[in-house]
Order: sequence, then C-alpha cells, then structure tokens
Amino acid sequence: MSENATWSAIILAAGQGKRMKSDQPKVLHEIAGRPMISWVVMSALAAGATHCVVVVGAAREAVTRELSTRFGSRVQTVVQTTQRGTGDAVRCAIEGTSGLGERVVVLYGDCPLIPHDLVRTLVAKAEVADCDLGLVTAAQNDPTGYGRIIRDEHGAVIAVREDRDCTEAERQIREINPGLYAIRSEFLEEAVSQLADTNAQKERYLTDVVELASRRGRIVDLSGDIEDLRGVNDRVDLAVCHARARRLISAKLARSGVGIAELDSAFIDIECEVDPGAFIGPQVHLRGHCIVRAGAFIDAGCILTDVVVEPHAVLLPYCVASDSTIGAGAQIGPFSHLRPQTEVGSGAKVGNFTETKKTQIGEGSKVNHLSYVGDGVIGREVNIGAGTIFCNYDGEQKHTTVLEDEVFVGSDSQFVAPVTVGKGAYVASGSTITKDVPEDGLALSRTRQENKPGYAGRLRARLRAMKKKR
Ligand code: UD1
Ligand code: CA
Repeated sequence: MSENATWSAIILAAGQGKRMKSDQPKVLHEIAGRPMISWVVMSALAAGATHCVVVVGAAREAVTRELSTRFGSRVQTVVQTTQRGTGDAVRCAIEGTSGLGERVVVLYGDCPLIPHDLVRTLVAKAEVADCDLGLVTAAQNDPTGYGRIIRDEHGAVIAVREDRDCTEAERQIREINPGLYAIRSEFLEEAVSQLADTNAQKERYLTDVVELASRRGRIVDLSGDIEDLRGVNDRVDLAVCHARARRLISAKLARSGVGIAELDSAFIDIECEVDPGAFIGPQVHLRGHCIVRAGAFIDAGCILTDVVVEPHAVLLPYCVASDSTIGAGAQIGPFSHLRPQTEVGSGAKVGNFTETKKTQIGEGSKVNHLSYVGDGVIGREVNIGAGTIFCNYDGEQKHTTVLEDEVFVGSDSQFVAPVTVGKGAYVASGSTITKDVPEDGLALSRTRQENKPGYAGRLRARLRAMKKKR
C-alpha cells in the first residue's frame, strides 16, 4: 500500500442483537473488559483508518457515549433509524459523512477480534490489484448462520449467499464470509444505491455488493483464521470470543516476560498493565485498569479491580481488592478484602480475614488478623492486634480513626471514631477507645479482672447435685 493512500472505516452497529436475549445492545457486551464495538474500532484505527464512522441505531445514546468517551473526535457516529439491513446501514454511513477517502473498509461491530494486520493486508491487496472490492474469507466447519462464499469454475469469488437464501448445495459450502471488506468508495456509493430487498429477510444486504463488483471486474480475496473472525450473535459466541481474547492477552503478556501460571486461567482485562517480571497465579482476575509492577506476585484466586500493585508486593491466595493501591513489598492475604480507597504503604501487611476501606496504612504497619479498618489514617510501623474494629459509622455519618506512627494496639480493641491515638501510644487488649490517647500514653478501657479461688469447683458440685435430683 502506498504511504499516502487514505482509507476510512465504516463499522455497522445499529442492531439490537435479539439473539443475545439481553436488554443491553449487543455491541456493548464486553470482552475482557472492553465493549465489542470498541474492539472493532481499535482494530480499524490500529490498521490505519484515517476516519471511522460507526452506524448506530438500537440504544444509540449508550453506544455513542461509549465511543465518544473512549475515542473522542476520532470516531463519528451516524444514525440508522430503522434496521433495514447491512447494505442500508452502509448507505446511511455514506450519506452521513463526506471525505471517506479512496477506499472504505467495512466491518461489523459484532466481530470483535479482527486482527489489525489482517485489515491492513486486505487494504494493501485491494490497492495493489486496483480492484473495486477485496474481502476476507474463512473456513468454518459449522458454517450455519454465515454467508457462504460462491466461486466460479476458475475459483474467483462471484457472490456471497446468505444462509437463509442458500440452496441445499450452497448450504454445504464451508467457506464463509466473516464480514471484512475493502471497497473503492466511488463504487460502494453507487452499489449500495442499487441494492434490493428481494431475499428471505426482506433486507438490503451489503453482501450483494460482492456480486455487483464481480460483474464489473476482479475481486481479490484473502483467507483468514475463523478464530479471529468469529461473529457474535448469541452468548455462546460471546463466551467463545471471550476465551479466545483471554488466551491472546495472557500469551502476549507471557511473551513479554510476565510469569503466567496457566494461559487459560489468568483472566486479565485488556486495559490492564502488567510489567515483565510480575507473576500471575492460577484463577487470578485482573479487571478494569489494574497496574501490576515488576516483581509483584499475585497468587491463586485473587480478584483485583482497578488496583495498583507496586513492585515486589505479594498477594497470597484469595484476596479481593478494588480501587486500591498496594505498596512496594507489601504483603496481603490470604483472604484479605481491600475495599475502595485503601492505600497500603510499602512493606505493610494486611492479613487473613481483614477488611479495609478508605484507609491509609503507613509503611511497615501490620493489620494481620480478623480486623476491620474503615475510614482510617494509620501511620508508620503501627501494629494492630487481632480482631480490631474501627467503629466508623454512627448510623448517619462516617468518622475517621487516626493511629499515629508506632502505635501498638492490643487484640480485640475497638476505636469509636472520631478518635486519635498519639504517636507511640499503647492500647491495651480488649479496650473500647472513645477518647483520644496522648502520645506515648497507655489506654486501658476494660473491667478489672477479679479471681475467686475455688469458686468453679463449688459451682460445679452444686450444679451436678441439682442435675441428679431431677
Ligand atoms: C452478516 C453477513 C454475513 C456474514 C456475517 C458474519 C450480511 C447481509 N450478512 O450476517 O454474510 O457471514 O455477518 O458475521 O451482511 N447491522 C446494522 N444495521 C442493520 C443490520 C445490521 O447496523 O440494518 C449491524 C449489526 O448491528 C451487526 C452487523 O451489522 O453488528 C451484522 O449484522 P447481523 O444481523 O449480525 O448479520 P449476520 O446475520 O450475522
Ligand atoms: Ca452477526
């Protein structure tokens, strides 16, 4: 392809996708954390489209919102009010835009995993052959639902026949139309105006453009891998694409130097960033926008959403965390729950069955066992004993507990916020702290222990005697 040849992309995404049996429009269903439509747009832009037009219809506000948030002015939307078929959708796109460039690549918004280099190769091939239309084909063992590629006796592509319009013989064809075309703009404009709806679905099919092009001259075709080109019509297709995307993401990270225990059991969303030298154990989910730095070790079963894991932090099995930061060399888990706005300092520890929320935990501090720390500001080198609770909620408002540097909290203590414990202070086990504690002070708030020698033996004898009498 010559360096300065320009081409634009038209992406069809107006359908509701009834076969998904979902209230959400089909193209907004996510694959590895990114809506299908955005996968397709990313692919077109990465392949070199200068301009991207998406045809929207069903739930157009939601689809448009997704596109403008993610791509801004790089993507334009055009409305197709009634879904009269893929050919009609392309007509809407052409009418709604100007300056499409010499060639247009048409893609379907429900074919999410199209590799951008395949798009680029197709455009280059159509350009070199100087033809009206180039398309990709793929071999599929079960071609049900796809348009079939019809070739003449010389092997040239002459038409695409939709599944529902196939003769019995045509239905046996296993070469299908995945729906990726590079078309000369001038020809496309003319061709879509000629489409008829005399077919099983009474729709204007874009695929009829193929026959029109073949009557005018040669069509170039390029074969692709069906695994890359699967269209999503129902939730089975969606799950199959999801599994494929997951494997591609894991394999790419593994190749870059990330340790991945098993390719198919790392569930890493496409927008996550994992540095070489990090390790991802089995059944780990990284959702949304996680960042995992080199040397971090995330063991089995951890589920992280929008979490930053700094270098050499260790997450032991089965931690759940969201919208939080885990500092360098910190250790979390097993079974810790970090709720939003938790900031674990470097070298700090959060242990088993500890829940945190909107809390800073300073460098080297420890909350190791069975605690709840919410709305807290915890300094450096603070030690929080087992079963400590920050009572942060009075039923109306949340309040803050401050534990300054080097505070030592005995087990089974409660802090009734708002409350502050000064630097280096001790809180005795079993205390309920309702008042501020001064620096280096000791707070003790529990009833004094009283021992009654021999009392248990006498009590036991009395109770046994009562039992005998009955
Ligand atoms: C289409 C192709 C078929 C191909 C298959 C590949 C046609 C006629 N058929 O069939 O040859 O094998 O994709 O997956 O093109 N859309 C609109 N407006 C409309 C109709 C559809 O924007 O009026 C959009 C849909 O939202 C969808 C895409 O076009 O994203 C494809 O439509 P769909 O109904 O799924 O076509 P298929 O039956 O899968
Ligand atoms: Ca489809």
